Amino acid sequence: MKIEEFILENWLNPACGSKKNEIYLGGSCVSPITVEELFELTGESLDDFIEELKKMDLGYPRFEGTPRTKNAISKLYKDVNPDEVILVHGGTGANNTVIFSLLEPTDNIISIMPNYQQFNSLPKSLGVEVREIKLKAEAGYKLDLYEVSNAVDNNTKAIMFTNPNNPTGSILELEEMKELVKIADSVGAWIVCDEMYRGLKNEYMPSFADIYDKVIVTCSSSKIYSMAGTRVGWIVCRDEEMRQTIFNYRSYDSICGGVFDEWIFAIALEHSEKIISRSRKIVSQNKLIIDDWLNGHKNLKQYAESYGTTYLISYKLDINAEKFCNELLNRKGVLVCHGDCFYMPHTFRMSLANGENLEEGLRRIDEYIDELLNERSMLDSKL
Ligand SMILES: Cc1ncc(COP(=O)(O)O)c(C=O)c1O
Repeated sequence: MKIEEFILENWLNPACGSKKNEIYLGGSCVSPITVEELFELTGESLDDFIEELKKMDLGYPRFEGTPRTKNAISKLYKDVNPDEVILVHGGTGANNTVIFSLLEPTDNIISIMPNYQQFNSLPKSLGVEVREIKLKAEAGYKLDLYEVSNAVDNNTKAIMFTNPNNPTGSILELEEMKELVKIADSVGAWIVCDEMYRGLKNEYMPSFADIYDKVIVTCSSSKIYSMAGTRVGWIVCRDEEMRQTIFNYRSYDSICGGVFDEWIFAIALEHSEKIISRSRKIVSQNKLIIDDWLNGHKNLKQYAESYGTTYLISYKLDINAEKFCNELLNRKGVLVCHGDCFYMPHTFRMSLANGENLEEGLRRIDEYIDELLNERSMLDSKL
């Protein structure tokens, strides 16, 4: 099977491990939580947990997933039953499982761009026709629903996207979600929504699982729960037949999840408000600093009202995004994620959620841009 290079993961992960990476502002997870911090924050007893671990049976856990974990996940939605939750390996495992369970070469899908690349490249590899709809900067990266209704037809199997969007952070509000459901329903299409970044507003953020039966939602412990290392991903599917299909595919892929991972994540989710409050605090503090920096910036602009963990920042310089970010890393030790990872030229993604040395990072970016401008004007004067 031919498959496109996964640009984001193949560029960002090595860059992350590079010795040059002194100030990491390229990721999208909220600063990871330690085991100790988790127990302090939740008020649960770490000693009791260690005792439980000592006695834990290291055989296969429950094939259908740890009931405690499925139960805690179901409570993140208005009306989801624990049986409608399928546990998988990470958000990537969730998306992969859904794509291979749902799509056939004769289908078309609508992919709302920028999208997580799995939702684009994997369907293409399967021979599915991918109809892209681009979110536009001048519209604050908000979806134009009219474009979606023009793009669907009776052969559309699914509308696939990320809400809140990665990297722009733009969202569909409830009324827009309902309109999108109407469009999907009019042609019998599924909605497949990656909701990895859902939950950072102070009030309850609706999920597509709350409003449509023909929906498949994916999510994981990685982003707003700060526990990417646990690799707990999940799929919510209300439709029993599709759930069986997904469950069958998962048996080929992983059989079941990890016993430690599901257990510790269940403990975290039973205190999800505390974990998410920590994330909201980190993101809102960083946002203030970054907004202040961007306000009136001569060379940088951010267009969206972001409810995710990142901003997509556009720059006015004649240098491609990958080079811009490689040079920034090499010269200044600051890592941001280049926009070509999302097919968004002349942009970079900046984390709102990983605050270490943020101000110093921003100062170095400005210094770097000044250097680039000087170099260019020297070049121009020589010509
Ligand atoms: C939208 C989106 N979906 C899925 C993933 C993968 O998540 P996980 O780490 O849980 O595999 C990411 C990670 O960056 C993401 O941004």
